[in-house]
Amino acid sequence: MIPILRRVADLRPQVAEWRADRQAVAVVPTMGALHAGHLSLVRAARARCPRVIVTIFVNPAQFNNPEDLEKYPRTENADAELLAPEGVDAVFAPLVDEVYPPGFATTVSVAGISEPLEGMHRPGHFAGVATVVAKLFGMTGASHAFFGEKDWQQLAVIRRMAADLDLPVEVVGCPTLRDSDGLAMSSRNARLSPAARALAPALHRAMQGAARSLRGGVKAGKALEWAVADVLNAGFDSVDYMDLRDAATLGSVEAPDAPARLLAAATLDGVRLIDNIAV
Ligand code: PAF
Repeated sequence: MIPILRRVADLRPQVAEWRADRQAVAVVPTMGALHAGHLSLVRAARARCPRVIVTIFVNPAQFNNPEDLEKYPRTENADAELLAPEGVDAVFAPLVDEVYPPGFATTVSVAGISEPLEGMHRPGHFAGVATVVAKLFGMTGASHAFFGEKDWQQLAVIRRMAADLDLPVEVVGCPTLRDSDGLAMSSRNARLSPAARALAPALHRAMQGAARSLRGGVKAGKALEWAVADVLNAGFDSVDYMDLRDAATLGSVEAPDAPARLLAAATLDGVRLIDNIAV
């Protein structure tokens, strides 16, 4: 069995040995409820680094809705079983007090890139993410960190933070894994009723349609409006945003002249889904 470590004092001596041996150490930060998407990150980490740590920590600081935090699935035993055949060297699953001990007073906040899209709809979310990821980098002492492109804005925020703070960690983005009907894999998908699960791929379909229109020269305003209508007509309750952005800076763009990303968030059956694709 892979050792599950709760305390940074137990992890550090192990990592120090690996680093003294000049071995690259990867961290794959997760909030547990692991699925094939997470395993693809672990495999990418394994392919690059001889040592891999997976962290499992449901980070209260990034939930702006207490009910969402409470409902977040916690499946540590099943997670450990999934990781067992993956050649992971350690699972770091700290308790909340280990990450945020009494007196904890620091917040990492990344201006600009954190503000639109998810930042508008989930105030404080990215400060919670940036703070915990900075902590996990410090706690694990990893040289490489692997994140999914499914959370495109999160990846951009983490890259900005790592560059701005000169954190000695290479941030690696990995492609989104999708079910065969196109739905991006996410721990939240498990909360969809069977009927909603059948409707959910409409989000990705509408985004693909918008990407085709944009590449064909349709103006962003029209292409995005049609995509929102498609998602609502398919049975989604609401669309928070459907937006075309510069892939790196997330600044608004009118046309996909430079590498651009179409990003969306929409709610179905009370479950908020996000997705993004290249345009
Ligand atoms: O993407 C996630 O699962 C979380 O936001 C992360 C990066 C593990 C930080 O809590």
